[in-house]
Amino acid sequence: MADPRLAIIGGTGALDLFEVLDQRTLMTEFGPPSAPLSRVMLGNQPAWFLPRHGQPHSIPPHRVNYQANIQALHDLGARQVVAINAVGGIDPALAPGALVVPDQLIDYTWGRCHTFSDDAESALEHVEFGQPFSANARAAIVDAAARCAVPIVDHGCYAVTQGPRLETEAEIRRLAADGCSLVGMTAMPEAALARERTIDYGMLCVVANPAAGVSAEPISIEEIHAVLERAMSKVVQILLALEA
Ligand code: HPA
Repeated sequence: MADPRLAIIGGTGALDLFEVLDQRTLMTEFGPPSAPLSRVMLGNQPAWFLPRHGQPHSIPPHRVNYQANIQALHDLGARQVVAINAVGGIDPALAPGALVVPDQLIDYTWGRCHTFSDDAESALEHVEFGQPFSANARAAIVDAAARCAVPIVDHGCYAVTQGPRLETEAEIRRLAADGCSLVGMTAMPEAALARERTIDYGMLCVVANPAAGVSAEPISIEEIHAVLERAMSKVVQILLALEA
């Protein structure tokens, strides 16, 4: 069987979703990826699966080696990535359990290795990033959701925060004023590195909680985990319906 061209980068709550055919333990020039790359079957198509936070889940968002993860997928021949990310809902319409395919992002992170153009030896590239998520990858996710009749919201602006703490209410008000509808910690630099390696990159976000101050209730980490666990069956249905 040819190596898969599709890869899934799974986030919080996405571990152990698939039966693993085999695994490759890779080393890249940027260090090791978060975990061995698993080859899995998504319906009748093979895909690579990489748990972003390691297996077991232990790498915080600011310590993920995004360069190694994208380089490893590139080295294995992956041409399209569907990333799964847990987020907080800034737009009150995005209730816990909602699924969103964002079309924009704003990067508020700092100090992360955010480019492959990082030293004199690497080619200096100013990649075009006006649309940070690839149209092809977004359409693949949106079409898959339609095929299996799982409701999704097909747009949104993802605010990428540094974490690992959640945001203050004032920070969320600022992100809302900036035009962000979702907040998470891992879309960047992942999306930009994928663009630098010319990998089509799209994202399926799972709203785990209303962002700080959006609901009168304080955010409960237990509730976040419970919401993500419940939503994963919808995520799996969409992934199984992806067409290469
Ligand atoms: N903020 C940032 N990242 C998140 C959140 C949040 O409220 N929920 C899940 N990931």
